[in-house]
Amino acid sequence: MPERFIPGHADPAFVANEEPLREPVAQPDFQQVVSARYQRRDVLRGGVGLTLGAMFGGLLPARTVQASAGASAASSRLGFPAVAVGSADAVVVPPGYRLQVLLPWGEPLCGEYPAFAASNGAAEQAQQMGSHHDGMHFFPLAGSSSEGLLVMNHEYAEPRFLHGGATGLELNAFDVPLRADGSRDPAQVLKEIHAHGVSVAHIRRDAHGVWQLVRDVRNRRITAATPMAISGPLRGDPRLHTAWSPEGTQARGTLNNCAHGVTPWGTYLACEENWRYYFVRDAGPAPVSLTRYGVEPLSAWRWHLAAGNATDDPGQFARFDASRRAESAQGDFRNEPHAFGWVVEIDPFDPQSAPVKRTHLGRFAHEGVIFAPAVEGRPLTLYSGDDARFEYVYKFVSSRPYHAASADGSLLDEGTLYAARFSGDGSGEWLALVPGENGLTAANGFATIADILLNTRGAADLAGATPMDRPEWGALDPATGQVYFSLTKNERRKPEQAGGPNPRARNAHGQIVRWREAADDHTATTFEWELFLLAGKAQESLDLHGEPLTEDGSLSNPDGLWFDGDRRLWIQTDISDQELNTRGWSTFGNNALLAADPDTGEVRRFLVGPRGAEITGCVGTPDGATLFVNVQHPGASTSAHDFARGRLQSYWPDGGPAMPRSATLVITREDGGVVGA
Ligand code: FEO
Ligand code: CA
Ligand code: CA
Repeated sequence: MPERFIPGHADPAFVANEEPLREPVAQPDFQQVVSARYQRRDVLRGGVGLTLGAMFGGLLPARTVQASAGASAASSRLGFPAVAVGSADAVVVPPGYRLQVLLPWGEPLCGEYPAFAASNGAAEQAQQMGSHHDGMHFFPLAGSSSEGLLVMNHEYAEPRFLHGGATGLELNAFDVPLRADGSRDPAQVLKEIHAHGVSVAHIRRDAHGVWQLVRDVRNRRITAATPMAISGPLRGDPRLHTAWSPEGTQARGTLNNCAHGVTPWGTYLACEENWRYYFVRDAGPAPVSLTRYGVEPLSAWRWHLAAGNATDDPGQFARFDASRRAESAQGDFRNEPHAFGWVVEIDPFDPQSAPVKRTHLGRFAHEGVIFAPAVEGRPLTLYSGDDARFEYVYKFVSSRPYHAASADGSLLDEGTLYAARFSGDGSGEWLALVPGENGLTAANGFATIADILLNTRGAADLAGATPMDRPEWGALDPATGQVYFSLTKNERRKPEQAGGPNPRARNAHGQIVRWREAADDHTATTFEWELFLLAGKAQESLDLHGEPLTEDGSLSNPDGLWFDGDRRLWIQTDISDQELNTRGWSTFGNNALLAADPDTGEVRRFLVGPRGAEITGCVGTPDGATLFVNVQHPGASTSAHDFARGRLQSYWPDGGPAMPRSATLVITREDGGVVGA
C-alpha cells in the first residue's frame, strides 16, 4: 500500500517572502525628491509634460507642466500591436507570431534520457529538465542563430506538483508532504533537490523551423547536490568548514537560482537568491552571517527532516540544519549556510567542469549579474542586486585588466565590491566595501575582506548604501551604456522612508531606475540616475516623461530586463501568485512581457502568460529572429483547498487534467523577421 502523507504547511513568513526585521535609514522627503527629479529632467530635455498630482493620492499638490510636442510620439522601435491584458490559461502573442513550447519540467535531457512520468523519482529527475525555469542564456554554437546551448536556472519547485504522494492533500505552493511522524520522505526530498539547479541543453532548429533537443554529452544537470568549488577570499576560511568539506574549499549544490549573468569569456553565472528558505538553525545565539540573512529556526522546505535515515550518509539532508552539534565546525553543518548566497560560474561547454562559487561578488540574495562591455586592457565591471526589501545594488570592479586572450573566472576573484548610494538630487556614489574604508573596521566586525564578503549586507549597512525596493534584474543599454534596474515593489516602505529612486511609500507596483556612470566609465565611483518608469495603475504610474503609462503599456512588479540588439528593453513582470488577478492587481491580468523604447519611453505589451505564472528569462538568438522566454510556476495560484480537490488554476502547457509545468517558449515571426521589430 502506498505511504500516506499529511500536509506540512510552510511558515507564513516564508510564504509572504518576509525579510528579517530591521529599520532602514530615513530617506529624504519624497515630495521634494520626485519634484526635483522631474523638474531636473525638464531642464535636461528642454521641457516635457508631467502630471504628478494624482499618482500619490493627494500627497502631492496637483500640478501640470506644459507638455512639449512629441513627448509621447509612437516609437518606431516597437513594431507590433499591443496584446491586451488577459487572464486566460494560455500564452497570447501579437498576430503574425508563432509559439513553440520547449523543454518543460521533466523533459528528458541527459544520461539515459528517462521519459517524463508522474511516477518519476529522484534518479529520473536528475536526468530531466528541472522545474521553475528562470534566468536563461542562448550560447550560439559557432555564432549560429539556429543551434546553441540553452542554459537556464531552475529557481525552485512546487512539491505538490512534483510528488504523486501529494495528490489529495491540502497543500499550497510552498507546502510539503510530511510523513505521519512529521519527518520528510528522503525520496521526495532528493527529487526536490534534483528539480533545483541549472540545465545545459543543446538545441537546434530543424528544417521546419521547430527547435529540438540534440542528444549531446554537453547536456547536463547541475542540482542542489552537485559538488562545486569555493573560490575567492572565502576559500578555505574557517567559517566555510563543514563536516563534508573540512578545509572549506567545496560546497554542495546551488539553490534558488534566479537570474543569471554571462561572462565575456563565455561562461554562465547562476545567482543564489532565496537560499535562506532551505535552512534552519537552533534557537540559540547565532552569528550575524545567519541572522542578517534571515536564517531562522524555521524552514519552508524542511529538507533536514529527511535526515537520520540510511540514505543520509554524507549528511546530504542533515546539512540543511545549521544547529551546532559537534565540538568544532568540522564535525557538523553550522557553516553550511555560509556556502550559499553567492554567484556560481558554470562552463556549459565543458561537461566535466566543476561549478565555482565566486565569493568576491558578495553574499546576499543575488538576483542576477550584468556585465558592462569588456574593454581590452581595462578592469572588468559588473552589477548585481540583492532582491529583498530595503536591500542594495552592488557593483564589482576587477583588480586586473581584461585581456580577451587570457580572460577567465579568476578575474572575478580579485577586485573591489561597491554598494550604491542614491542621492535625492539625481547623483549617486559607489561606496567601496573594503577594510578601512566607509566605517569597515575591525572594531565594527570587518577586519578583513572575508569578513565583509560573508556579511556583505552588514558591510553595506555600515557604509550607508541606499535601501531599495527589492532590486531585481538589471540590463545595460548597448548604445548608451546606461544601466537599468527593476525595483519590483516594497509595501513595507513608510512615508518617511520614501525618496530618491524609491519614491513611493507602500509601493505595491515597483519602478525601473536607470543611471549613467560618470564620464561613461563603468569603473567610476559616481553616477547620475533617473526613473525610467513608475509602474502601477494608470493614475499611479509615470512614464519617462512624467505622464501615466498607457493601457497598452500598463504593468506592475517589473522583474526581468533584457536589451536586444536593436535596443528594445524587454520587461518581464512578476506579480506574486498570491496577488495575481486579485485586489489592487486585478487590472493587470496575468503576468506579461512588454517591450520599451529607451529613447521615447514608450512601453507596449507583447505577451501575456498563463494563469499563476511569472514571465522571465527573455533572451534572443544573435539574428534576433528567435526569442526564448520562460514561463515559471503556472498554477501556483491554486489554493490548497482546490489542489486537494484536483481543481488547478492552470494545466498549461499540456492541458487538463495534466499538472502544470514550467517551460520555455520559443517565439518567432511567421515572416522570419526580427522579434519585436
Ligand atoms: Fe527570483 Fe527576485 O526573483
Ligand atoms: Ca525574479
Ligand atoms: Ca520577482
